[in-house]
Amino acid sequence: MYYIPMTADELRKKYIEFFVSRGHAQIQGKSLLPDNDPTVLFTTAGMHPLVPYLLGEEHPAGKRLVNYQKCIRTGDIDSVGDASHLTFFEMLGNWSLGDYFKEGAIEMSFEFLTSKEWLGIPLEKLGVTIFAGEDEVPRDDESAVVWKKLGISENRIAYLPREDNWWGPAGTTGPCGPDSEMFYYVGDKPCGPECKPGCSCGKWLEIWNDVFMQYNKNAAGLYEPLARKCVDTGMGIERTIAILNGKTSVYDTEIFAPLLRTIENAAGDYVFGSDAEKDKSLRIISDHIRSAAFILGDPKAVSPSNVGAGYVLRRLIRRAVRHGRKLGMPIPMLSPLAAVIVDQLKGPYPELEENRKFILDELNREEEKFMETLQKGEHEFEKLLPNLLKNPQRVMSGRLAFKLYDTYGFPIELTEELAAEQGIKVNREEFDEAFKKHQELSRAGGEQVFKGGLQDHSEIATMYHTATHLLHKALRMVLGDHAAQKGSNITAERMRFDFSHGAPMTAEEIKKVGEIVNEQIKRDLPVTMEVMSRDEATAAGAIALFGEKYESQVRVYTIGNAATGVFSKEVCGGPHVERTGLLGHFKIQKEQSSSAGVRRIRAVLE
Ligand code: ALA
Repeated sequence: MYYIPMTADELRKKYIEFFVSRGHAQIQGKSLLPDNDPTVLFTTAGMHPLVPYLLGEEHPAGKRLVNYQKCIRTGDIDSVGDASHLTFFEMLGNWSLGDYFKEGAIEMSFEFLTSKEWLGIPLEKLGVTIFAGEDEVPRDDESAVVWKKLGISENRIAYLPREDNWWGPAGTTGPCGPDSEMFYYVGDKPCGPECKPGCSCGKWLEIWNDVFMQYNKNAAGLYEPLARKCVDTGMGIERTIAILNGKTSVYDTEIFAPLLRTIENAAGDYVFGSDAEKDKSLRIISDHIRSAAFILGDPKAVSPSNVGAGYVLRRLIRRAVRHGRKLGMPIPMLSPLAAVIVDQLKGPYPELEENRKFILDELNREEEKFMETLQKGEHEFEKLLPNLLKNPQRVMSGRLAFKLYDTYGFPIELTEELAAEQGIKVNREEFDEAFKKHQELSRAGGEQVFKGGLQDHSEIATMYHTATHLLHKALRMVLGDHAAQKGSNITAERMRFDFSHGAPMTAEEIKKVGEIVNEQIKRDLPVTMEVMSRDEATAAGAIALFGEKYESQVRVYTIGNAATGVFSKEVCGGPHVERTGLLGHFKIQKEQSSSAGVRRIRAVLE
């Protein structure tokens, strides 16, 4: 098999050198947490931080740019573990802001890929795809002419619809256009004269994408032509390193070797499952720890939490820990792996070294927290066991498994694992059903956030939810304990809160309540949750909502702790933000009558 050994460091260097020699200015990659696009949680492509320039703003470095950019995409999270999917990856990119267009972009891509001076990939290993035309945008014959002129034969060109050959926008609005993608054949040689990307042999791997940015998708979903046509390209470093070194999987490259070695050395003898499952766990851990280390090592780092990017981070860490346990890795599992990543990538990403301590500390802390959750869940499972063993079918109901998940955060996979050890099967269908229902009901809808990488209204709703607790307590402080919650209603724009009180509030009282709430936000109090029995909750002085039915075990949310003083304690299903500081500024807009003896406050977070 053909190959040209190259490291990621060499590839990064060569790419930059090539495009600088073609008049491009090298620019710095940006934070993984975007600041110009509220519709996504992470930077998903090299073009992402460049959106304003692709839409027409002048870039201070000029019209030709090149860089490498750290990216996270969580949309394919379920595919991680196969040969090519990653949540974290590095992207090389070059841009033309109203300078060269299709011909220039394709010629440079071709030269870099095939010239012996650069990557030297033989022509017979390459295939390309071109936009076939759809709706008002015609087939991209212009690109086809250029590829053919350069030597790509017609039978290595696939014309595909919008679904395959259109890129962008990165969020819900922004620049986009038809693209032309470059593929490498990962087998020995293409399976026949007509074998091209999309061939059923399945051996074409996409390595680079030239996007011809011609449109801006606006908030109404319409495609407006851009005044200035641009080029955006993206080459995946991990995939390109794989093919250059004759590998079919990104995980078989020098990029992953140090990590995989460290995991395997740490792994114990106990392996739950087959070799294929073990490989999958190794890949999932190494992918997820890269994402986690880079999120924590970012100048705009977030900590694990229950909202937004912090929630994605938490899920990545916990999933990695789960697989680490399968491999019998000792604790702490993840921080030693993060140290390997910092050592390996601190050259191109010095922020990793600068934040080394923070990365390792946060990983240790989250791992400990998760271990506690797991221990609690295991303990609860053991309590259920005698009854489960009495069941002649040896089946655990999905409802019961869901309860472990919902009350203790105990992952279904672990319930299944513990059950399997006792010869018990979990009714997964029933669990999935309960889970789906919960998702639909859940105000956080965190799962969707995780899958799509998209921020949705749920995060804001979570903030409002915590604000109701602050407001409830503040009302009691100002008006007296009779001011009990009668109901609440939350949308992404505002909250409404009904409470018993016999008279309109005075302007002075409204002001005071607002001040108390904002003071607690400023104090950035921690919000924590404990599961306890109803009696324990009552004994702890937790407020329980009027008329609500509770299971024997309830969740109690506490705002503040022993160090800061407890501000509020309420029985509540959650979810809540982790710290009050996330709420911003609280403002009461209106106070009015709701019904006899019940007042209603409308308030916003801004
Ligand atoms: N923005 C393009 C991509 O991510 C280059 O594929």
